[in-house]
Amino acid sequence: MQWRNSRIRWGIVSVGFHWVMGLVVVALFGVGLYMVDLGYMDPLRNVLPDWHRSVGLLLGAALVLRLLWRFTSPPPKPVPGHTRVEHFSAHSVHWLMYALMLAMVVSGYLISTADGRGVAVFDWFSVPAITGKLQGMEDMAGDWHRWMGWILVILAGLHGLAAFKHHFWDGDDTLRRMLCMKLLQSQPHEKQ
Ligand code: HEM
Ligand code: HEM
Repeated sequence: MQWRNSRIRWGIVSVGFHWVMGLVVVALFGVGLYMVDLGYMDPLRNVLPDWHRSVGLLLGAALVLRLLWRFTSPPPKPVPGHTRVEHFSAHSVHWLMYALMLAMVVSGYLISTADGRGVAVFDWFSVPAITGKLQGMEDMAGDWHRWMGWILVILAGLHGLAAFKHHFWDGDDTLRRMLCMKLLQSQPHEKQ
């Protein structure tokens, strides 16, 4: 397996980014929903929001690295047999998910810094507030954060289902090449 993407498959770096970040997004979503309903006396009431903010900001850093990597090592060509409509819709959903991940990090940061204080990332370092104290920002960013979070996980769910459809129904290489598996249509003479 190679580190970089080739013309026909994703490399280890992109595959690693995809699965680790996908899991983290789903975990942040679940923890986010759970933590906003915790009672006053619950011992997790302080722990989970700290974890959510810290992991969320690290996800933001990983997203920047992932996008830089995507430009450094271009993605593979569309899987042979996909129609133009399939390719266009998959491409649009991918970029929408990137945009929503970024928007989730920014809105989460704005909720957390609305009181003018920075956000601590575990006990390692702190990200300063840039806006200062702003009236109404916490509620507005909170509404965006909730709705965009729902849109992101619904899109990601549909996107996962589409990948399974390609794998089990069409029997093509879409999922195999995101899992570093042996490809069915790999041509020995094709430049990897
Ligand atoms: C069961 C879950 C999932 C499956 C089976 C899956 C499968 C895939 C596959 C096969 C690709 C490559 C498509 C291609 O080669 O054209 C892909 C790309 C992508 N996936 Fe997923 N995925 C899942 C979950 C997620 C989640 C939770 C996220 C993020 C919230 C996500 C974000 C992305 C993005 C942004 C791309 C585009 C990569 C790029 O073009 O740079 N995926 N996924
Ligand atoms: C993709 C990344 C993220 C996802 C999927 C996510 C998801 C969620 C969800 C589902 C909620 C519950 C919303 C509600 O029902 O009211 C939530 C709440 C929250 N999130 Fe995130 N989040 C992410 C990133 C972040 C980041 C980076 C921060 C901060 C730096 C953050 C800070 C918060 C805060 C402070 C709340 C509580 C809001 C309130 O009390 O109403 N989140 N998040």
